[in-house]
Amino acid sequence: MRTKPRPASAPLDTSVPLDTATPASRGRATPRAPKDQDPTLRAAYRLCRRTTRQHDPAIYALIKLMPATLRPACWALWATASVLDDLADQPDVEPARRAARVEAWTGALKHDLTVGTSADPIRYALVDTAGRWRLDLTSLRGAMARTRDDAHGVRFPDWAAWRAWCGEGVVPWVDQVRHLFERAGVPMTLRLDRQADYERFVDGAQLTDVLTDLSTDLAGGLLLLPREALEPFPGAEADLVRGRWSPAVAALVAELTALARRQVTRPAMTRGMHPGPATVLDTAADLMRAQLDAVEAAGPTLLTRPPRPSVVTRARVLVPARLRSALAWSLTPLTVPGPRPPGVGASDPGPAAEGTRLRPPPPHPDGIRPPRIAADQMPCHVAVIMDGNGRWAERRGLPRHEGHRVGTAAVYEMVYGALEIGLRHLTLYMFSTENWKRDTEEITTILDTVRRELDAGPFRDLNVRQRWSGRPDKLPQDLVDALRREEHRTRGHTGLTLTTCIDYGGRDEITRTAAALAQAAREGEVDPHLLGEDDFARHLPHPDMPDVDLLWRTGNEQRTSNFLPWHAAYAELYFTPDYWPDSDRRDLWQAITEYSRRQRRHGAVPAPLTRDPVSDNA
Ligand code: IPE
Ligand code: IPE
Ligand code: MG
Repeated sequence: MRTKPRPASAPLDTSVPLDTATPASRGRATPRAPKDQDPTLRAAYRLCRRTTRQHDPAIYALIKLMPATLRPACWALWATASVLDDLADQPDVEPARRAARVEAWTGALKHDLTVGTSADPIRYALVDTAGRWRLDLTSLRGAMARTRDDAHGVRFPDWAAWRAWCGEGVVPWVDQVRHLFERAGVPMTLRLDRQADYERFVDGAQLTDVLTDLSTDLAGGLLLLPREALEPFPGAEADLVRGRWSPAVAALVAELTALARRQVTRPAMTRGMHPGPATVLDTAADLMRAQLDAVEAAGPTLLTRPPRPSVVTRARVLVPARLRSALAWSLTPLTVPGPRPPGVGASDPGPAAEGTRLRPPPPHPDGIRPPRIAADQMPCHVAVIMDGNGRWAERRGLPRHEGHRVGTAAVYEMVYGALEIGLRHLTLYMFSTENWKRDTEEITTILDTVRRELDAGPFRDLNVRQRWSGRPDKLPQDLVDALRREEHRTRGHTGLTLTTCIDYGGRDEITRTAAALAQAAREGEVDPHLLGEDDFARHLPHPDMPDVDLLWRTGNEQRTSNFLPWHAAYAELYFTPDYWPDSDRRDLWQAITEYSRRQRRHGAVPAPLTRDPVSDNA
């Protein structure tokens, strides 16, 4: 992080949005909710914003492309980096004292994170950000230590050493912003084959920064370029150190500018990404190219002051980017966690459900209450094939994974609706044994979304017992661990049993059960001749799961796709045309109402009707 102080010029904007919303905020617009009441915290974020704007207008402009709910967190992160840079950069203070100041600041931050508040405004905002967005700031320790260490006399033999040094200072900060996007449910998902592109992009950003700040660094006795880059231009290093613009220096600058331009130009890097973070990255690249134009145009003045692109050039990049990003964010809702109670450290995993008071589900935003269903008409077990995520996204011109992401809000809704209407068992089909046939990227997003939700634990303080049904062997181990952890954590809850089916296949379940029985028979525990249906059911992975009464599928398809064949043998089937992300608890209530009107027979003769249906038609 190489932010440079510049004089305050723009007036202070007091309308800092510090929105909080329920995790289930849905709708087209960015969720906005009651503002935080704490005026000190609001003032702290305002200071962070001002500090970011003064230190780095380009970063400030990029943060503006993010949704309003994410900006305060970014200002807090950047303001922290800037303050540390300033402490480390004071030319009139001797190096040891500067290092001690940085050390003291980071030590105080560590303490403040533990107590959950701070007397220093920038640390207060950062502590709040870390708690609010569940950011683990420990990865910043290395970067902060790098700021503390005196860069004087630092030299790099080659690009690899240069990359390691620069990266250590900046990558952890950028990673925090990536975590922020993840927490908001819009991950900056880089395809695995684009990882190298991203690394080059970061190199290009560093090199642009070094070229821009050449004059300031040289004045401070720093030459932050590797020997490998300097050597092909004999005399350039000595000229630079003396502040002399020579043909060798001009050729070196031309070469490095071209290299940085190639590195930041990675059109494929953002392909398939959510258009929001993609716009931020693409605009960052555009701004860097404009910056490199300014470096090229500077000529000898590069050695006397940092070049800047003109206001017109910046506007040419930023105005369309703002329009693009506004459109991108308006298309998708974000997950915005609420503030964390003071005293909870940022790296604390959060309050455990055990011992936590359970709360009722949040009501429907329109205040709609569930219908009254007679107890004997109420299904005990509703199983849902949540279908249509992909088509929901495709209809909107979004990548399919957006549908899976937005679909999580519908999951919240169904759980709330199930609790409100008093359903005992809700089983959700999230990922089938057949879904491995999909694109790796889509699979990754589905599983990442599940993992993120498990980490966030949105149902932990509801009376929901969570369980998982599926094969453990193909799923990532950390996901299996998280699923089992939630089962354990919520095992004492007595309201709704929520079973999520992940890498679930009905045939697989039956095959595994048959194998278990065959083994039991081999060991003499079971007599195959006496085996009945109940014996079979007792060997299923979840022997206490009741039969499915109502099997509901969204997304306009009429098939059961290998879902719960044993349990749903006599289920009432219900198919609806809406895509899953467009469904909410009212659709569940409608499904249950429809079920309550059905006559179930289970193979028996129907009960006599009170009226003759023929005369009804007459
Ligand atoms: C259902 O949505 C969710 C999963 C299968 C994981 P789809 O992804 O099947 O959406 P469509 O059917 O393609 O629209
Ligand atoms: C069923 O949906 C599986 C889940 C909802 C998890 P699919 O979309 O995979 O089913 P098909 O392929 O249309 O039958
Ligand atoms: Mg489907």
